[in-house]
Formats: sequence, structure tokens, C-alpha cells
Amino acid sequence: MMKGRVLVVDDEKAMVLALKGLLSKEGYQVETAGSGEEALRRLETGNFHLVITDLSMDGIGGMQVLERGRAIDPDLAVIMITAYGSEKIAVQAMKLGASDYLPKPFDNDELRVVVQRVMETALLRRDHRRLLAQVQSDFGFDQIIGRSPAMHRIFETIDKVADTDVTVLIRGESGTGKELVANALHYRSPRRTKAMIKMNCAALSRELVESELFGHERGAFTGAITRREGKFEAADGGTLFLDEVGDMPLETQAKLLRAIQEKEFERVGGNEAIKVDVRLIAATNQDLEAAVRAGRFREDLYYRLRVVELVIPPLQERREDIPLLAEHFLKEAAKRFGREVKPLTGDAMRACVGHHWKGNVRELRSALEQALLLAPGAEIAATDLFGETNDQAGLGPPHAGLSIQDPVTPLSFREAKDRIVETFERDFLVQALRRHGGNITKAAEEIGMYRQNFQQKMRELGIRNIEEQ
Ligand SMILES: Nc1ncnc2c1ncn2[C@@H]1O[C@H](COP(=O)(O)OP(=O)(O)OP(=O)(O)O)[C@@H](O)[C@H]1O
Ligand SMILES: [Mg+2]
Repeated sequence: MMKGRVLVVDDEKAMVLALKGLLSKEGYQVETAGSGEEALRRLETGNFHLVITDLSMDGIGGMQVLERGRAIDPDLAVIMITAYGSEKIAVQAMKLGASDYLPKPFDNDELRVVVQRVMETALLRRDHRRLLAQVQSDFGFDQIIGRSPAMHRIFETIDKVADTDVTVLIRGESGTGKELVANALHYRSPRRTKAMIKMNCAALSRELVESELFGHERGAFTGAITRREGKFEAADGGTLFLDEVGDMPLETQAKLLRAIQEKEFERVGGNEAIKVDVRLIAATNQDLEAAVRAGRFREDLYYRLRVVELVIPPLQERREDIPLLAEHFLKEAAKRFGREVKPLTGDAMRACVGHHWKGNVRELRSALEQALLLAPGAEIAATDLFGETNDQAGLGPPHAGLSIQDPVTPLSFREAKDRIVETFERDFLVQALRRHGGNITKAAEEIGMYRQNFQQKMRELGIRNIEEQ
């Protein structure tokens, strides 16, 4: 059992040897350095847990070994050996991060006790850090699963801005996890003990949006029988998450901008200025730039919201996240439904990774939940997920062809192209057939093909006609 790696530093040879002898007997892996310079060289590459260094040495002294050593490795533990009567310097060393100090002369027991205690803490701290790093890199961040570079960049940005009050605009297609990211931003912020208030700006009339956001006074409009607080007030001290902000009515946008800038607003039908301290997070799956150009979204608000922008790529652009997500959702669903976890067969996993999930993570999640409940066997097969007809092969969405670049078994350019072409052809013919209720003559005529060629293609591509499908 490894007890830890120690570097002993002293320019007094006798001392170095004595310490090395004693600590080796205790089971530590001990190396030595006869000067501060040598110590720093060894620390660069040595992977030590603990340095025991004399304070006063010629050239680079103990203080510098401490400072530079911890700059190289922030987890490095340091014990400073000080001369009798230099408590002040010892305290300074502790302030700089030394774990403990040993005033000379010390006896062997003293040394043993101090080293053991410091080493235990050092190993624990390192373990903890390694575990944390592992959890974050293997399984993502809070409840956000992902190991693709794109998701890692998102985790990093969340980390950087979570403890600030900057406004964050989260963008991404439906089902990519925008709300999860908003949650992470709130729960990692100093505001986490206060409210996180969410509001969906879509599908509400202007009056409703405004009264939801800012509240209203009694009698402000028909139906306003009592005074009501809005979301801004409810979020005071916390975070307000404006979902689908791209759908906010233009007039409301002006009021929102003012509320953000002045940090105050009036309730609908009121004229008392209400002050709040709110951190704003907004999300949208819309092309806001186009909305700005079309005059549907205020440019000033657009810039005010996207102080920091987090763009979550569609699942299709980070397929390496799919196996991890799949495993996570299956486990989670099994627990929730009180079922055994059913693993995906190799084929099913490949199909999952290759499938174009138009509804992104949300769609993947519900497909897996359904399959877990309905799959007859002990494993989930590709057919449990995509039905008997091979979905990706042609009856699926037109973009299915673009999703064939399976990271597990990469294709050559030629194979990839052939597959896309095949997928496109199958898709195109099936659609034409559908439009004409399976009438091959009419379908062929419409897309400008000879009937015989059309039939030939159907055979090649394995298309069965509508009635047989
Ligand atoms: N990276 C992820 N890790 C784990 N679960 C995820 C991840 N991304 C999304 N999900 C899950 O997928 C579903 C959709 O996520 P969410 O509601 O955050 O998406 P959204 O981008 O807000 O979608 P919409 O635009 O439709 O509101 C949720 O059940 C969420 O838990
Ligand atoms: Mg959402």
C-alpha cells in the first residue's frame, strides 16, 4: 500500500539522510534534494504529495520552494523546518499554504506524527479532486450529461459566469437542454438560496405577458380584481429565467429593456416605481438576428441579453454524447418506473448514435423510456426503438441521410455519399408514392421518371408500396 511520495530538501547532508532513513522506514517513498534549485527541478516532474523543506538554505530558500512548488501543483503539501525561535516566519509560511512547520530541534516522534497527519489530508484532498474531475468529465455537470468538446466548453462557461450577475442568453434547438443550463447557472450562483422564477414568453398576449412580468394593480384591466405581484418581484434577490424570449411582443420588449437597465419598473396600471435585484437568464430557439432584421426583436434588447451567449449544439453535432445520455436515461427511467435496467443491444446503440433526433435530447429520452417499458426482451433492440422498418433507411425524416457518419464505425467518403444518395432516393420515391396513394404511374410521372425506372429503383432500394408498408 502506497503511503505517499515525499521530497526532503535541505542543504545539510546529514539532515537529509536522517529524514530519508526515518520516513522510508515508515513506508513513504522518499527522494531528496540538496538545494532549493534542485527541489524545484524535481517538483516539476516528480509528482510528490509532500515536501519537507528547510527554511534557510543558500540560494533558493524554503519560502520560495513553498511558493513555487504550490504554483506547480496546488495540491502539494509542504512542511517547513524552521530554526528555533522563528515562529513569525513559520506563521508566514502557513499563510502561504504550508501545512505545518517543525521547529528545530525536533524528535523522531514529533516528525512522524506531523508527517502522517499532513500526508493523510494531502491524499484525501487529492482523491477528492480526482473524483470531482472524474465525475465532471465522465458524466457532465450537475444533471447535464455530456462529454463532447462542445458540452465541455459549455460547462466551462457556466463555471466562469455562474457567480456573476451577467445576463446570459442560452440558445439552441428545442430539447437541447437550455432549461438545464439555466438551472445550473442559478444553482451555482450565490443566488441559489433565493428563488429561480421561470416564465415562458411564448403564446401569451401582450397584456398577459406584461402583467405576468411586472404584476398589476387592482383594476388595471378587466378581470384584475386584486393587485398581483409579477415574476420580477417574485425573483427579487434570485434569478428570472425568460424562456422563449424571442416570442416576446415588441412593446413588452421595451419595458423589459427598461426594467433591466434601470433595475426598476411599474406594475401594470400603477405608477409606483418598484426596485428589484434580479439576475436575468434568457433562452430562445429562434434566429434572433433574423428577428432583429425583420424588426420583430429590438436590437438594443438583443445586445443587452447576450452579454454572454451559450449556444448548445443540436444532438446531431455531438453524437459522442449519445451513449452516455442513453445510459443515463435508461438508468433513471428504470428507477422511476421501478423496473430493471435493460441495456441497449450493440445494434440498438449504433442506431441510436446514427439516428437524427430532431427533437434532440428530449426525443432521445422519451424514445428510450418507451422502449424500456415496452421492449419484450431483456435487452432493447433497434426494432424496439425504431420499429420493424429500418427508419434511418428511408421512411425517416429527409435529413436522416446526413446522420450516417457514425462515430463508432466511420465510413469512407464514397460509402457515406452512397448512403446519403440512397437515403435521399428512397425518401423521395416514398414521398411521391404517398402523395399518389401508391399509384406508381402517377408518382413516376410527377417526378419525371419512367414508370419502369421507378419500379426498378423501388426494387433496388427495397421499397414496398404503400399497401404493403
Ligand atoms: N445534456 C443533457 N443531459 C441530461 N438531460 C438532458 C440534457 N439535455 C437535455 N436533457 C433532458 O432533455 C429534456 C429537454 O431539456 P430542456 O427542457 O432543458 O430543453 P430545452 O432546450 O429547454 O427545450 P425547449 O426549447 O423545447 O424548451 C429534459 O428532460 C432534460 O432533462
Ligand atoms: Mg425549454
